[in-house]
Amino acid sequence: MKKLAAGLLAAMVFVFAVQAQAEVTWQKDIKPIFDKQCVGCHGADSPEHDAFAKDKKGFTDKGIGMRMDTYSHLITYVGWPYTGAMMRRLDDGSGKPDKKAGNMYEHLGATEVERKANLEIFKGWIGNWNLKRGKDVTKEELNSLKVKY
Ligand code: HEC
Repeated sequence: MKKLAAGLLAAMVFVFAVQAQAEVTWQKDIKPIFDKQCVGCHGADSPEHDAFAKDKKGFTDKGIGMRMDTYSHLITYVGWPYTGAMMRRLDDGSGKPDKKAGNMYEHLGATEVERKANLEIFKGWIGNWNLKRGKDVTKEELNSLKVKY
């Protein structure tokens, strides 16, 4: 009986260790993708969201986006105040009636294979992947976002 209990415990520790390893985090998984694919337009020199909004056309014409290069910046485009912006822009469109991908999806990689793989990593990080806007999202949906640091 003792042996069985010890065996069970060992199995549980193993499962937890694997789960901890598999957990998607910003530091381990998202930042490397961001630094490769996104930082050129959303880096430290880019304006804050509201400064960007004041001259959206001017910045967009120059290929400059809003700043998202830190964890703190990035999660504002997932949860609040720019609820779901990340999901709407990165979505590949496969679950939508019009099948239209978000306009940042193309930046996820150089090939379709790379884009799909990186999208899956973003989905794993965010957890509750839904494309709703702030006014339509429920408290439960916000609470189920993962976005681990
Ligand atoms: C070539 C430049 C460029 C690259 C690379 C780029 N973006 Fe963008 N991004 C922009 C510009 C410009 C805008 C603002 C214009 C617009 O809304 O489409 C924008 C808008 C966004 C928005 C919308 C924010 C909002 O308030 O609605 C998100 C989210 C976003 N980008 C995420 C990303 C992610 C994640 C990556 C990397 C996978 C990325 N972008 C790569 C230029 C870029």
